[in-house]
Amino acid sequence: MGSNLRLSSSLITFTLWVILLITITTTTTSAQLSTNFYSKSCPDLFPTVKSVVHSAIAKEARMGASLLRLFFHDCFVNGCDGSILLDDTSSFTGEKRAAPNANSVRGFDVIDQIKSAVEKACPGVVSCADVLAVTARDSVSILGGPYWNVKLGRRDARTASQAAANSSIPPPTSNLNALISSFNAVGLSAKEMVVLSGSHTIGQARCTSFRPRIYNETNIDASFAQTRKNNCPSRTGSGDNNLAPLDLQSPTFFDNNYYKNLIANKGLLHSDQQLFNGGSTDSNVKAYANSQSSFAADFVAAMIKMGDIRPLTGSNGETRKNCRRVNN
Ligand code: HEM
Ligand SMILES: *[C@@H]1O[C@H](CO)[C@@H](O)[C@H](O)[C@H]1NC(C)=O
Ligand SMILES: *[C@@H]1O[C@H](CO)[C@@H](O)[C@H](O)[C@H]1NC(C)=O
Repeated sequence: MGSNLRLSSSLITFTLWVILLITITTTTTSAQLSTNFYSKSCPDLFPTVKSVVHSAIAKEARMGASLLRLFFHDCFVNGCDGSILLDDTSSFTGEKRAAPNANSVRGFDVIDQIKSAVEKACPGVVSCADVLAVTARDSVSILGGPYWNVKLGRRDARTASQAAANSSIPPPTSNLNALISSFNAVGLSAKEMVVLSGSHTIGQARCTSFRPRIYNETNIDASFAQTRKNNCPSRTGSGDNNLAPLDLQSPTFFDNNYYKNLIANKGLLHSDQQLFNGGSTDSNVKAYANSQSSFAADFVAAMIKMGDIRPLTGSNGETRKNCRRVNN
């Protein structure tokens, strides 16, 4: 009788442990992102976002590039939490005036339009961080790139960090080692850095971002450098905001020409040409230049991984009503 009682009490203890373990596992799983996160709460999310992105790109093709870059600059700074969207106020300094963003990142009005349309369809449901993730996917796909299922369930930060934006987003003056370390710092490999840099197959850069390269570097095609100098004066302060396409061949089409340019020493940014300059990533560049399909497949996988960087989930953070400011 006594030993029977001991047996059943240890059985109860065991069962309790199993229940506890299952609870922990389920909690951890629910704190992860999923592709069907809003399928019940906001069934029209995808067509709603896509339609606004589509009109914005129809109006200005470059906008697709600008929207894709917003997601990168959000995710690299304390995770994909919509922090880049917060406006500065008299008592709050956000990320918009950080060095990599000031006079450079754009598309905030389009994000506002998308968020308004989404709020109309399902008020208070979809986070701004998730709006950025879907918007980035649609931008790539509308400009002729691959399509993928976006993982969702991120929540919005109530804070932002200008210091982290300054230090976490690599500048175009970076050498290969610095580029690799800044991607390693958020859990992305050198190869993922190379494939995500293929985003520079679309969009524009300012003269100030590539001036030292076109005037002073030797690993650059001479006639390409001359063409760029024609619209980017050597003197600092003169023509700083003049634009040039990151991919000289097809700046509004998402293809693998970026890598072909690098092999021809026609990378626009110093950081671009670092990926093909006799170092460890030359082989990745050659592979993506030779295969549009391996570029597309690896790009999709790396975008999904970038979207997984430290999201706020569950009851952390909030679902902002207006992407520019925290809820009251
Ligand atoms: C590897 C390190 C990277 C560096 C150093 C870098 C740097 C830059 C710079 C300097 C510009 C031009 C900004 C200006 O002159 O105003 C730019 C533009 C752009 N970047 Fe990157 N970038 C990197 C990686 C990425 C990644 C991973 C993505 C996306 C996943 C991305 C997407 C873009 C896009 C689409 C543009 C054009 C934006 C527009 O036209 O508005 N970049 N980048
Ligand atoms: C970030 O960089 C900007 C521009 O260089 C600078 O004005 C600002 O003070 C920096 N902020 C922090 C917190 O380091
Ligand atoms: C090129 O290098 C020289 C010598 O270091 C420097 O004085 C000049 O400012 C550089 N020019 C540009 C456009 O970076």
